[in-house]
Amino acid sequence: MSSRQALGQAAFFVVSFAPFLVSASPAPTAFVNNNDVSPPFPAITPSPVEKNPSPVVQRDILSDVESDVNNVLSSLGSDLPSWVASGVPNYFQNFPTGDAVASSLGLKSSDLAALPTNVLNIDPYANWTNSGWNVRFHGNVYKQPNTSVADLNKLANVFLIDTKIADLPESQQEQARNLTAEIFVVQQPHVAVNTIHLEPAASQGSSGQPGGGGSSHTTGGWQNVTLPYNTTAEGDFDVFVPIASNGLTAGNKTSAIQRLNTHVDGASIGNATAYLVPPTGLTVVSDIDDILRITKIYEPKEGLFNSFAKAFTPWENMPLIYSNWSSSLPNMHFHYLTTTPEQVTRNYMQFIYSTYPGGSFDTRPLNFSDVSATLSIRKFLLQKIFETFPQRKFILIADTSNSDVMRDYPEMATEFPGQVQCIFLRNTSATDSGDKFPYDTSGFKNLPQSQYMFFLNPDDLSNLDIANGECYNKSIPQNLTFSYQGLPFGLGKHSGAGGGLSTREVVGASSLMALVASMLTAAFMFL
Ligand SMILES: *[C@@H]1O[C@H](CO)[C@@H](O)[C@H](O)[C@H]1NC(C)=O
Ligand SMILES: *[C@@H]1O[C@H](CO)[C@@H](O)[C@H](O)[C@H]1NC(C)=O
Ligand SMILES: *[C@@H]1O[C@H](CO)[C@@H](O)[C@H](O)[C@H]1NC(C)=O
Ligand SMILES: *[C@@H]1O[C@H](CO)[C@@H](O)[C@H](O)[C@H]1NC(C)=O
Ligand SMILES: *[C@@H]1O[C@H](CO)[C@@H](O)[C@H](O)[C@H]1NC(C)=O
Ligand SMILES: *[C@@H]1O[C@H](CO)[C@@H](O)[C@H](O)[C@H]1NC(C)=O
Ligand SMILES: *[C@@H]1O[C@H](CO)[C@@H](O)[C@H](O)[C@H]1NC(C)=O
Ligand SMILES: *[C@@H]1O[C@H](CO)[C@@H](O)[C@H](O)[C@H]1NC(C)=O
Ligand SMILES: *[C@@H]1O[C@H](CO)[C@@H](O)[C@H](O)[C@H]1NC(C)=O
Ligand SMILES: *[C@@H]1O[C@H](CO)[C@@H](O)[C@H](O)[C@H]1NC(C)=O
Ligand SMILES: *[C@@H]1O[C@H](CO)[C@@H](O)[C@H](O)[C@H]1NC(C)=O
Ligand SMILES: *[C@@H]1O[C@H](CO)[C@@H](O)[C@H](O)[C@H]1NC(C)=O
Repeated sequence: MSSRQALGQAAFFVVSFAPFLVSASPAPTAFVNNNDVSPPFPAITPSPVEKNPSPVVQRDILSDVESDVNNVLSSLGSDLPSWVASGVPNYFQNFPTGDAVASSLGLKSSDLAALPTNVLNIDPYANWTNSGWNVRFHGNVYKQPNTSVADLNKLANVFLIDTKIADLPESQQEQARNLTAEIFVVQQPHVAVNTIHLEPAASQGSSGQPGGGGSSHTTGGWQNVTLPYNTTAEGDFDVFVPIASNGLTAGNKTSAIQRLNTHVDGASIGNATAYLVPPTGLTVVSDIDDILRITKIYEPKEGLFNSFAKAFTPWENMPLIYSNWSSSLPNMHFHYLTTTPEQVTRNYMQFIYSTYPGGSFDTRPLNFSDVSATLSIRKFLLQKIFETFPQRKFILIADTSNSDVMRDYPEMATEFPGQVQCIFLRNTSATDSGDKFPYDTSGFKNLPQSQYMFFLNPDDLSNLDIANGECYNKSIPQNLTFSYQGLPFGLGKHSGAGGGLSTREVVGASSLMALVASMLTAAFMFL
């Protein structure tokens, strides 16, 4: 596809999309959570920064596409294209929020007032401090409009390339509508998060895998907590709150993880598990896309299909590797840290908790939504968990298709000396010829091979004594140049375009990705 065709399609898309979004669903009359005004919880650790809403990015998308294409053209044979340096174009960008959703669905404030309040309660971790257990509650308060199936179908079609929701089997249609509905929610700014009920969790049940803190017997913790701050302008909350012991075991008297059920009042689906993690031990920090599930984020069309229509599918036998770690190292803490947008968190949690060991969770909060913030969020979340558990050691896992991972993981090893036990990176281009995205290995230059491994299949991780620092499987050849590798189409800093695909193909591939990004942004701009 030429750049002109790509631009033409993006423009066509904008025009044809706008008329879809007109009908509003009748407002349901339902339970309203009136957020009673309770006094703030007395003892507080760091306050969430109140921020202005992130500006809705309304750049001139079409000219951006054009300039990306021009950058690729002008950089052939010389420098790296800009989209290479910034990593995989993130098409999970610029989802509409708050008022934009309300107005696109034609919701009036009286409609909204009648909707029940819901809470996304993201499974938190807690550290042990001088004032006891300190739980990092984080999530979002929102209202779920009762959007008609017809409207959801129209909106879902935005996320599907070369196919329409009507052509999919019913289960995939449902998945696409569910995800779309999750995105089209109305976040609730400046409201209180009232009464989170805590109680000991039973050992992990039949779904998912045991371990991951699930095997420990939790003896107390019953209490009700009110968060000290109202939600941010985006409806988010993220705050450490010290909780009363009420029969919990002190963090310095156990190496086991205790688990509390946390249930937010008035939110039928706002249940999560809090993981009370002792000061010392091992924590796995794991990315999800293309390491725990098949996403193929580096192939936009498939990536979107795998995210929006197909049931989430584990990557090869990774569940067995985690299951073994979880059962053979029962005090291991699992923390799932993905930069996928907060809106789709529930789908990721559902998949993880039915496939991998239970654990705490982080996704990308709404105030990290512009492109530069998107590339800095992983580091922000990594720093937060390293600072919360300064004596624990971390095993960091992801794949090579994330430029932020390639930069941040090795940086953690130097910035937090002694805290990184292992770095495991799946080399996605080794097993997937469709991955044309380059990755930068320069961050690993000063790390000893014993601390990291680029691997091909989950089996490469088997039989490693990770607890004792065995991170490298000697049968897996490593080939690091400590610079950009896997450059697409034979493109290289010094090699020019020789030997690879033609200029036209390079432009074609680049504009497909730019096209996806521009479709989404353009669609939301016209809501
Ligand atoms: C949502 O709207 C549909 C009609 O569009 C209606 O049948 C249904 O009862 C509504 N659901 C709720 C929870 O109000
Ligand atoms: C987002 O909000 C958190 C608090 O919830 C704050 O710590 C962080 O600095 C903010 N980040 C950006 C990029 O605005
Ligand atoms: C355990 O931690 C508490 C609170 O930080 C502290 O008061 C106590 O002295 C510690 N006990 C031991 C044995 O370190
Ligand atoms: C869609 O969401 C509904 C309600 O939350 C749930 O019952 C159903 O299992 C989901 N379906 C898929 C395919 O995700
Ligand atoms: C916090 O939210 C409650 C309602 O949820 C409201 O009454 C109160 O004024 C808010 N406080 C601030 C400081 O915004
Ligand atoms: C928490 O609040 C509920 C009512 O919302 C009450 O029944 C329960 O006794 C309270 N628990 C504690 C430990 O105060
Ligand atoms: C959430 O927790 C509450 C209190 O334990 C329980 O009554 C409710 O059934 C739970 N909801 C779900 C969806 O598990
Ligand atoms: C607990 O976590 C908070 C927040 O990250 C951190 O400031 C504090 O130092 C941690 N406490 C300990 C004892 O590690
Ligand atoms: C990743 O796999 C590709 C294809 O086999 C190989 O060329 C490359 O050197 C590998 N990268 C690393 C860092 O080992
Ligand atoms: C290393 O990788 C091979 C191939 O996947 C696997 O069979 C073996 O169990 C792994 N572990 C060790 C310690 O060799
Ligand atoms: C399972 O994990 C333990 C602990 O890390 C390790 O010693 C053992 O070799 C692993 N077994 C397999 C089959 O990977
Ligand atoms: C090692 O990496 C370089 C640079 O990415 C590549 O050209 C070469 O083919 C790789 N060798 C192997 C054996 O994969």
